Amino acid sequence: MSTFYLTTPIYYVNARPHLGHACTTIMADAMCRYRRLAGDRVYFLTGTDEHGERIAQVAAKAGTSPQAYADEIAAVFQETWRRLGITNDDFIRTTEPRHKKVVQEILQRLFDAGEIYFGEYGGWYCYGCERFYTEKEIVDGKCPDHQTALTFIKEKNYFFKMSKYQDWLIKHLEDNPGFIQPERYRNEVLGFLREPLQDLSISRPKSRVVWGIPLPFDDQYVTYVWFDALLNYYSAVTEPPLEKTRGLWDHVQHLIGKDILKPHGVYWPTMLKAAGIPLYRRLNVHGYWSLGGSKMSKSIGNVVEAFQLTDKYGHDAFRYFLLREMNFGLDASFSEEALVERLNADLANDLGNLVSRATTLIAASGPIARVTAPVETADREIAEAAATARATVEQTMRDFAFQKALAGLWAFIGTVNRYVDASAPWALAKDPARRPRLERVLCTLADSLGFLGVMLDPFLPDAARKVREALGRGETPALDAAVMGQLDTVPRVSRVSGLFPRVDTKASHPGPQPKGERAAQGEGETGGGKIPITDFQKVELRVAEVLAAERLPKSKKLLKLTIQVGEETRTLVAGVAEHYDPASLVGRKVVIVANLQPATLMGVESNGMVLAASHEDTVSLLTLDKDVPSGSRVK
Ligand code: MSP
Repeated sequence: MSTFYLTTPIYYVNARPHLGHACTTIMADAMCRYRRLAGDRVYFLTGTDEHGERIAQVAAKAGTSPQAYADEIAAVFQETWRRLGITNDDFIRTTEPRHKKVVQEILQRLFDAGEIYFGEYGGWYCYGCERFYTEKEIVDGKCPDHQTALTFIKEKNYFFKMSKYQDWLIKHLEDNPGFIQPERYRNEVLGFLREPLQDLSISRPKSRVVWGIPLPFDDQYVTYVWFDALLNYYSAVTEPPLEKTRGLWDHVQHLIGKDILKPHGVYWPTMLKAAGIPLYRRLNVHGYWSLGGSKMSKSIGNVVEAFQLTDKYGHDAFRYFLLREMNFGLDASFSEEALVERLNADLANDLGNLVSRATTLIAASGPIARVTAPVETADREIAEAAATARATVEQTMRDFAFQKALAGLWAFIGTVNRYVDASAPWALAKDPARRPRLERVLCTLADSLGFLGVMLDPFLPDAARKVREALGRGETPALDAAVMGQLDTVPRVSRVSGLFPRVDTKASHPGPQPKGERAAQGEGETGGGKIPITDFQKVELRVAEVLAAERLPKSKKLLKLTIQVGEETRTLVAGVAEHYDPASLVGRKVVIVANLQPATLMGVESNGMVLAASHEDTVSLLTLDKDVPSGSRVK
């Protein structure tokens, strides 16, 4: 039995779990379920990254303490993973004593060994990323990730002597080609290392940042959030003394998105090396999901919350889409239409129909104690297709290539569907003389379902369980049992229909419509004028502060407003001149539609629309009940 320890990034608690977080966690879950199926001892870790200035800032804005804020969001992450059926063995929070203790012990160890020194550094800092950017990385004077202005900071800090490990790391990457995979990311890290590696500032002065783990050797400083966060992978499995890791550490592999390649590919191995801790086995890096062409991140605001789609289409369909649509290592583009397309084609049509047809046919014939008819070429081909599919899954899962594993399984499903068509069991059933052949065909079908009930388990856990249950197989599935061609009986099978209901794409909006449900909701054929929440979510409502207001010279109705939306200043035209004196609006916070296409009104470009209620002659602007910063989302 081999051991497999897999980690996801620990997610920042300044955002609620969204599609990007769900993608990594679902990939890790599919991998861990697969390794358990293969009989490995598995440890699956996820968690939350809770320190740092950014968290302190959001907490302050929300009028609460960083700890209370972190408690709330960490609970949301835990609840999300529970609802998505994620099988993590542990959930680490960086504010837990078990983590803080390890961070401080390692810091002290590095300090005592002379790996940490006190010095001064000045550089361009992004508060969003909580890191300094080098001149080369800066794009148009802005943070390449957040597209916001950087701040020049000069301060005294503690530094880890990362530069001295540059040559060692290059050699390690060259000698161990599989250390970072896919290869493009190993090359990217080697690319970073072509430039001189700087020492890493691992502290922040308490005068500026208080929300962090105090340095054990200087209480005027807290630990830099990345130095703290990376150590979670180690602190989660250690028991005192530090080196005891329950036999897990030597097997650790990390799964991350490409955005955090540098800390994991450069900082982390050098930190481990300096601390005398064995390096991780492998870093697995996936690409980024984009939504409508732009990168999905909280700062850009085009976030798909993990729940919306699973609640709408089911866990398995959401999971399947994320695993099937992204080529591991490359970027992918998310759209609800593409999800529905995959759901209809691969799940409802290919898999759902096969399961429904096969279970209906087998259930109709009843169990068969002994199938005597010989195995024909067509049956043998199915067993061979199963062996090929299993080999594909085994090979591709070594590289986290979920899409290839699923393509392999769908090739098998396609073969079985064609087998059903060609052997036409419904025709065989009409002719008593062909009963023996019918029994062999049903046996092959039951065997195929048994195979799928095991092989689909990591990817579609709910559907795989339903298939196994239909065959009366209650036991925990095992990869070893995924072998076809050894069956001469047909079990009692219960019919499974509607494993994945088709989604009607002809309706005005996509959404699953199990029979009868629409009527029950009181919706007519056209949806009763109601829209799905996803339509509403396309409208970006935000709080804006009016900085200046003036009448448009030639218009009785229009005011030109200069407004602040978060860090952005824009101009918009509002038709409220007859109801509001411009001066009375300055300094007020209103609600705007922030993602309207610009329109020119009386020669002024308007970027957005102010919301107001109207009744007869009264027009009333939407304002806020409590104060929140401009840029806040309204939903
Ligand atoms: N807290 C750090 C990680 C510390 S690990 C020691 C962090 N947190 S995060 O909340 O920003 O999560 C980043 C990770 O979320 C990415 O590496 C990736 O795993 C996942 N994703 C976030 N957005 C994503 C996409 N749009 N697409 C794919 N994955 C994305 O960084």
